[in-house]
Amino acid sequence: MLKKIIFQVDYLGINQIEQEILFSLISDKLIAIGCLSVSNISENKELHQPLQQIEVIVDGKIHINQVKKCFEPLARITDFDELTLINTTNWVESYKDTVKPVVINNSFFIAPDWIDVPQNSKQLSVIRINPGMAFGTGLHPTTQMCLQLISSLPLSNKNVIDLGCGSGILGIACAKRGAKSVTFVDNDFVALGITRENIIKNSCQEVDHKITSALTRNTKKADYIFANILLNPLKNMAKTISSKVKSTGQIFLSGILIDQVESLLKSYEEHTEKKLIKIVELHMKQWACVQITYE
Ligand SMILES: C[S@@+](CC[C@H](N)C(=O)[O-])C[C@H]1O[C@@H](n2cnc3c(N)ncnc32)[C@H](O)[C@@H]1O
Repeated sequence: MLKKIIFQVDYLGINQIEQEILFSLISDKLIAIGCLSVSNISENKELHQPLQQIEVIVDGKIHINQVKKCFEPLARITDFDELTLINTTNWVESYKDTVKPVVINNSFFIAPDWIDVPQNSKQLSVIRINPGMAFGTGLHPTTQMCLQLISSLPLSNKNVIDLGCGSGILGIACAKRGAKSVTFVDNDFVALGITRENIIKNSCQEVDHKITSALTRNTKKADYIFANILLNPLKNMAKTISSKVKSTGQIFLSGILIDQVESLLKSYEEHTEKKLIKIVELHMKQWACVQITYE
């Protein structure tokens, strides 16, 4: 049985860009718990309040309280209507039709299982990720910028750490491009389970890999560390992350907004005598991804 829930949301007076970011974060959380679709259906599209009404479609397995929880602590639900959908449409199939593959730099083809690889894309590295309980389907700009950078890195014989691996998409992309070893790290045990499944689904189990909940003393130093998380955890982990990159290695920080880059890089300068070099800074929508090294 499918339900359509329409939430009235109060964003507590924040501006349009901040509302867009919140909407993106909330919809990622909703899709991650298994909601079938999330749409902004605000009738009032005036710039100062574009995201008042959010429509969520769920199947019978998801309880309304799980859905409401995804809004906390980002926004306040002021009201909601719950409608049961009469089964004239196959919503699961309709949802599947809306999912499009992501192609990155003529290198990666990322799609769920049910999308066939077109004849003209067979030369791409195919990464199969189904929408589910972990972040990282390839749709988010922060993931896409990391994948763009991965597509042009020399990876053969390199050791990689995918910190905040979510679905494992970045580490799997590195494995597909020839990385020697990948350490997948996430503090969410559901993400670790999904990463394990995705490693097998993508035939990467032969690549030397570890799946762990934290960087520890035993984690070996990497040539490349990818950390697509959020500003505060990236700042808090600056010392640990910097200590786990080889002297010639590089760190890729994503999950941050463009205007947060400067303050983030300060944290990465503080922990070392060496000079921090910013190699590349990519922007997509309001998000940024930086590639750094120490000299
Ligand atoms: C934005 S998702 C990124 C997923 C995937 N790497 C991608 O690029 O699409 C961030 C992930 O970081 C994890 N995370 C957050 N804080 C963390 C921490 N302190 N240590 C390890 N993982 C963390 C979250 O559980 C989540 O799976």
